Amino acid sequence: MRNLLKTTWLVPVFLFLLSSGHAQGDFVPNYDESKIPPYALPDPLQRTDGSVIKSTSDWEKRKKEIFEYFQREVYGISPVWDGKMEVREISKNESAIGGTAIRQELKLTLSREGRSLDMFVLLYLPKSAKASPVFLGLNFYGNHTVTDDKDILVTGAWIRNNETYHSENNRASEKGRGLRKDAWPVEEIIGRGYGVATLYYGELDPDFDDGFKNGVHALYPQQRDSSSWGSIAGWAWGLSRMMDYLETHAGVDKKKVAVLGHSRLGKAALWAGALDERFAMVISNNSGCGGAALSRRKFGETVGRINTAFPHWFADRFKSYNDRENELLVDQHQLIALMAPRPVYIASGVEDTWADPKGEFLGGLEASPVYGLFGKEGMPVSEMPAVDQPVMGTIGYHVRSGGHGLTRYDWKQYLEFADKHWGK
Ligand code: GCU
Repeated sequence: MRNLLKTTWLVPVFLFLLSSGHAQGDFVPNYDESKIPPYALPDPLQRTDGSVIKSTSDWEKRKKEIFEYFQREVYGISPVWDGKMEVREISKNESAIGGTAIRQELKLTLSREGRSLDMFVLLYLPKSAKASPVFLGLNFYGNHTVTDDKDILVTGAWIRNNETYHSENNRASEKGRGLRKDAWPVEEIIGRGYGVATLYYGELDPDFDDGFKNGVHALYPQQRDSSSWGSIAGWAWGLSRMMDYLETHAGVDKKKVAVLGHSRLGKAALWAGALDERFAMVISNNSGCGGAALSRRKFGETVGRINTAFPHWFADRFKSYNDRENELLVDQHQLIALMAPRPVYIASGVEDTWADPKGEFLGGLEASPVYGLFGKEGMPVSEMPAVDQPVMGTIGYHVRSGGHGLTRYDWKQYLEFADKHWGK
C-alpha cells in the first residue's frame, strides 16, 4: 500500500504528458543538428517518371501527383461535399468593438442523408461600405474564449477538459470567456481593415481517437480504409465549409480570405490551403511535424511520435512511414509548394524546438523553386533569419522569441504580410 501511495501521484503527471503529446515512452527527441540523419529531399520540380517541370502547365500535372500522394498517404482522402448547409443568424451586433465592427454569430447546420452537424461561427467585420478581406481560423477552446464580449454563446460542444480554460466534464464554461483573447487581437485586426471568422475546432471533429464516429466523419459513415480522412483533414474540410458560407456574405471579399492556424490547427490550415484554392493566403503558425517542418530531419517531434501520440490525426497509412521518413515520396516542402503561387506565411518560435523551427524555415525555402516557376520570389532569403527579423517574399517567414503560441507579434506580421500582398 505504501508503495502504491508513493507512485499514485505519477498518474496525473503521466496523463498530462500524454494529453500534451510530449509523453516520451521510448522516444527520445533529437535536438542536436549534428545528429540529423542524412537525407535527400524529393524534388518538387521532378515528376516520379523522372521528367523535369519547366512550365506552370507542367506544374499542374506535378501538383496533382503531389496532392494525391499527400491525400492518400498522409492526411487521408476527404469526401466531396454533397450535402446541404442551412445558415441561421443567432446574434448580430451592429456596433461591436466601440462601434467599429459588425459582429455576427451564425449557426451553420450541415446535413446529409439524415445526419447533421452544427458549426457555430463567430464573425467580426469592419463597418465599411466595401467588402473586407478576412482571416479565417479555428480556435482551440470555443468562440467565447476569443473575446471578452459577454454575448458570445458558450456552446455545448464536446471540449477537452482543461483547468486553465475552465472546461469540465468535457464541456466549456462561462469562466473561460476571453481567456484566449491574446491569440485573437480582434480590435487590432478590425482597426487594420480586416475581418476575422472563427469556429471551435472540436465542433468539426472532437480531438480524440473515437474510431471516427463523431464530428464531420459521422456525416460520411461509409466504410473506412487506410486512406480515409483523419482529424486534420476533417478540420481542413470544415474550413472549406466555412468558406462556402463566407463566399455568400456581402461583407466579405471572397478573393481575399486568408486561412490561418496554430500548431495542430496550423497543420490543418496548410492542408486546407492545399485542398481548397479559394483560400487566397495560407498562414501556418508553429505547425511543426505534419505541418511546415521537414519530416526527414527527425528533429523534435517525428512521424512515428506524432502517429503514436495522435493516432487519429492522419490517414492510417501514414503510420507505415513511422521511422521510415525517407520512404515517403514527399516531404512537407511539397505541401507548401501546393499553395503556389498564393502567398503563404510560416512562423516559428525559437524555443519551440518540438516543432523544429529550422525544419519549418527549410520547408518554405525548399518550396521556393515552384514559386520561381510562376515568376515569384518564394522565400526571399536562403539562410534562416535571426530571431524577430521577419522576411516577406511570396513566402513569408519569421522565428520569434519565445515558445509555442499564437501571439500579437505573430499577428502583427500577418497583418503586414496581408497589406503587402493585398495592396493596402
Ligand atoms: C502537440 C503535438 C504537436 C501539435 C501540438 C499542438 O505538441 O505533438 O504536433 O502541433 O500538440 O497542437 O499544440
